[in-house]
Amino acid sequence: MILESYIKELGERGELTVIKKSVSKNLEIAGVLKTFEPTPVLFEKLMDSEYRVAGNLFCTKKQIADYFGITPEQIIPTLTSAIENRSPPEVTDKAPCQEVVENHVNLDDLPILIHNKIDGGPYISSGVVVSADPEFGQNLDFHRAMQIGKDKMVTRVVKGRDFYKFLERNGEVDVAFCIGNTPEILIAAATSVETGVDELEIANALKRIRTVKAKSVDLMIPADCEFVLEGRVILEEKADEGPFIDLTETVDVVRQEPVFEVKKITHRSDAIWQGLLPGRSEHKILMGMPREPTIFKKIKDRGIDVLDVNITPGGASWLHVAVKIKKKHEDEGIKAIEAAFEGHKSAKHIWIYDDDVDIYDEQEREWAMATRFQADVDLLIKDKEPGSSLDPSAEPGTKMTTKCGFDCTKPLVTKGKSFDKARFPEVDIKKYLGE
Ligand SMILES: Cc1cc2nc3c(=O)[nH]c(=O)nc-3n(C[C@H](O)[C@H](O)[C@H](O)COP(=O)(O)O)c2cc1C
Repeated sequence: MILESYIKELGERGELTVIKKSVSKNLEIAGVLKTFEPTPVLFEKLMDSEYRVAGNLFCTKKQIADYFGITPEQIIPTLTSAIENRSPPEVTDKAPCQEVVENHVNLDDLPILIHNKIDGGPYISSGVVVSADPEFGQNLDFHRAMQIGKDKMVTRVVKGRDFYKFLERNGEVDVAFCIGNTPEILIAAATSVETGVDELEIANALKRIRTVKAKSVDLMIPADCEFVLEGRVILEEKADEGPFIDLTETVDVVRQEPVFEVKKITHRSDAIWQGLLPGRSEHKILMGMPREPTIFKKIKDRGIDVLDVNITPGGASWLHVAVKIKKKHEDEGIKAIEAAFEGHKSAKHIWIYDDDVDIYDEQEREWAMATRFQADVDLLIKDKEPGSSLDPSAEPGTKMTTKCGFDCTKPLVTKGKSFDKARFPEVDIKKYLGE
């Protein structure tokens, strides 16, 4: 499905705000998106680009679940199944994303947004990067890219990412930055699976997709995306990248990062640029949600009856994890903490709850911690280890951080007071109203 069809559907359902007045890609669009969040917005006219822009498209789990025709509770099993039952996409030679081929590259023509005054420049924040390695084959990742010239960008590549491995092994790597994608591509790109797994096959298992060969690089790309920037990333050609407001909504520092030389641009004839507000809910959902199945699996593999995992928005949808289990042995709370850390290496704090706690409700989570947690036995503190580069409190450069987990499950055998919450009588209120 092309993004425009989805946007049309949103309009028909009355779930889209359309901005008809002319807006600027420089700060204005970001400001409007922030104001309307989480409502999807289509900007029909830009004063500084001929293309349209859409944003806030997938800010909630509900929007994503609706897209797949499932409930939010079905996202973890659906994604787990897609990771396990990958399938190769259909190949086409007639792709919407190649309706127009621009051999002369001028990035100024594109609606690359400046999101915040402090940002180092215009940024692509929704770009899904296709790359390849002779041994491992294709990979899909997200990498933000800051414009530094008419045909040059600098892209942030965190050490350890598959794309970083490809750059280390090859020095220079051909890439396709694909912008304007539907959730099967976005979510697949954000999963972290074994190097050598082509995430386009995960996307295809989520919802059928088509791929096409890129025009100037030897890569298979999503045929139905809106824009493709083809070119090459060179590890040793570096430039300043940043500052940039990142996932934690704090300013990420300026680093020397690899340059991306853009050699060709292809797009749909009536293409829509996908805006994605850095640090806000869409960014958070796309970062955190694809890690929930991996955490779930690691806990399940330990023989624990895990019921649900929620990477909570308050923890930047990255650093904090709430897990619901049906405890059968006294040590399962602590074991679930250990397993959850294995499933998400960037997690900093993990909470384990019983099956009577709503892990999506902050008050319930706090209540369970207040009434069921004792720090001398229910707290697991790990030795300092690398955590998330996004956490401003981690040691700069090394990411060294202290992780801990809170077992907020009640003991299996209760001594003294009960741990259960009162359930008041349910009444038919109509019986008591009126005369
Ligand atoms: C919206 C969004 C933006 C991201 N930006 C970057 C980025 O700029 N650099 C980076 O290294 N990772 C970024 N990530 C994270 C990785 O793309 C993501 O964790 C991916 O799963 C890593 O894949 P890999 O395990 O194949 O390396 C971003 C993720 C999302 C959802």
